Amino acid sequence: MNYASFYQKSIHEPDHFWLEQSKNIPWFKTPTLGYSQLSNQHTTWFEDGMLNMSYACLDAQILAGRGEQTALIYDSPVTGIVKHYTYNSLHNLVATFASGLFLRGIAAGDTVVIYMPMIPEAVIAMLACARIGAIHSVVFGGFAPHELAMRIDDAKPKALITATYGIEVNKKIDYTSLINRALNEATHQPEYIISFARDTNAEFPKGIISFNDIYDTKTIEPVALPSTHPLYILYTSGTTGSPKGIVRDTGGYATALKFSMENIYQMKPGEVFWTASDVGWVVGHSYIVYGPLLQGCTTILYEGKPVKTPDCGSFWRVIEQHRVKVMFTAPTAIRAIKKEDDEGTKLVQYNLNSLQTLFLAGERCDPSTYDWIKSKLNIPVVDHWWQTESGWPMLGIMGKIDQRAAKAGSAGFPVCGYKIDVLNEAGELLHPNEEGYVAVKLPLPPGCLPTLWNNHERFIQGYLNKFEGYYLTGDGGYTDDEGYYYIMGRMDDVINVAGHRLSTGEMEELIASHPAIAECAVIGIADELKGQCPIGLVVLKDGLSVIEQLIEQELVALIRDQIGAVAWFKHVVVVKRLPKTRSGKILRKTMRHIADGLAYQIPSTIEDPETLTEIELSLSAKKLGAAFIALS
Ligand code: COA
Ligand code: AMP
Repeated sequence: MNYASFYQKSIHEPDHFWLEQSKNIPWFKTPTLGYSQLSNQHTTWFEDGMLNMSYACLDAQILAGRGEQTALIYDSPVTGIVKHYTYNSLHNLVATFASGLFLRGIAAGDTVVIYMPMIPEAVIAMLACARIGAIHSVVFGGFAPHELAMRIDDAKPKALITATYGIEVNKKIDYTSLINRALNEATHQPEYIISFARDTNAEFPKGIISFNDIYDTKTIEPVALPSTHPLYILYTSGTTGSPKGIVRDTGGYATALKFSMENIYQMKPGEVFWTASDVGWVVGHSYIVYGPLLQGCTTILYEGKPVKTPDCGSFWRVIEQHRVKVMFTAPTAIRAIKKEDDEGTKLVQYNLNSLQTLFLAGERCDPSTYDWIKSKLNIPVVDHWWQTESGWPMLGIMGKIDQRAAKAGSAGFPVCGYKIDVLNEAGELLHPNEEGYVAVKLPLPPGCLPTLWNNHERFIQGYLNKFEGYYLTGDGGYTDDEGYYYIMGRMDDVINVAGHRLSTGEMEELIASHPAIAECAVIGIADELKGQCPIGLVVLKDGLSVIEQLIEQELVALIRDQIGAVAWFKHVVVVKRLPKTRSGKILRKTMRHIADGLAYQIPSTIEDPETLTEIELSLSAKKLGAAFIALS
């Protein structure tokens, strides 16, 4: 089978194609239905199938003879621990923990929020929820209490599972105080707060149950669940202050992940797959936890950074030590390594001969980073594109059936199931080399979001209404004459900071709440290491005389406190007014071009072109100031 015929089949006969693929999943009841369109744009895959994700990831692997194979390697340079879990031992931990949750009344359909660092207990909690049909919602440990509180209020969890602390390089992040703040802010209060004690002597305040006390003496059998049962909710940034709860089904997701492990990543059972991300992101859900285990692989849970834990050779050390076959990370991690070791002197100290392919995603990979890593590793490097909503790659190179080489700057070709078009504002197809909205023709393949948690209307408005018959990805891009796709960045108010997806709209809402601010705009500007970083442009209220640096300090502290340090919000520029169209729309894209030193056209609808000159002057004064501060 070659790519062209396989791909065409997936587009023209989706039901047949995906029902065939679904046969690779250990169902309790095999589905006979493929795609179904219900009322009000509700859609399902494999509606009549029954399965359990924890069973497919663990029990089925053991039945296939992999019980004593390593399922999970916990590699934690920040604690010095390296620990292997076989499929048997992981199964036992998951099934006894699940039993403990069930005994406390947590059952199918209940929600559980997991706010944990990169420790095995996070994976155990996820798989245990899946076993009893509880819907987990993992919140990235780098998010501040306010973000956690918003998610708790939306997901309304019966239990919150956490740990005493996380470790960021060499500093402890006290989760107990973070969750206390979140629970003080949240209206909804979970019935159970369960915390994993990283130090054995830790004492919990009244009301917190120790994670280890949940383990039951007996295991619990997996519950048979409909294919459409939500496996998880994963909140992601949208254009407003309230995050969107992406819902993931079970059967469609399992089928899609299994398909991708075979056809994109080319993994076989027993081989080692490493995704250097965090379980708080979709990449972690799909390719640290569920994808590799469904495929019977060994997965690595890495509690460290590409640099500083202890140095820029840490990725290469992990690859050598665990004989990693395929690695997946974000381009920003490669840039961080390159910054410290441009010559690659660390890299050559390790034996990397197990590594066959490096996959990159999470943000656009600039050609110079791509060329650098490819020349240093001398293996295929594949940039592939996807998002929380899709749950698995939409563009990439399906290496098993496609021999075309990757091109620097391109995210490859549509993956089976995705008919991807580039459209103009009117929804018309653009020609190659013309940049526009990247949209996916409906129906979406298995694995993609069927709705947003508690908000189907927002799902329709945000994704389906802009272009009829299409899912709007929010990204802009183009194709070249050979059909390679290029994803150039977001068309909306979402930015990508070191692979972390953040909402500038949310930052604006927070900044606007400051008593001195009359108006503001937050834009993402180019950053050499992190890809993008946010910068705030603010107009002060009339009659206020405040020192610009003080306002900056307060707003920087506000964003750090409310969203988290990962937002990397460091700069504020006070301006007289913001450039707007005559209808009052702030010209964020034009300001972004000015800040990045790119050519820009003055929009014909601008209210006062003079405002752009003012912004240009303020931004260059800020840059000069920053350079001056850096030198002094
Ligand atoms: N918990 C608490 N704080 C966290 C955190 C977490 N899980 N992750 C990051 N932070 C904090 C950091 O400590 C830092 O705080 P500081 O301002 O007090 O120093 C801040 O958030 C920014 O962290 P980070 O984005 O990690 O930047 P960095 O400069 O420390 O490191 C990189 C830069 C490139 C090495 C790092 O961003 C990285 O490894 N990126 C890869 C991202 C990734 O895998 N994304 C997943 C999508 S595929
Ligand atoms: P997230 O939902 O956090 O995974 O972020 C998804 C967004 O990251 C996408 O909508 C893109 O803007 C960006 N992104 C992810 N992968 C790539 C890639 N390979 N190339 C360009 N942008 C990417």
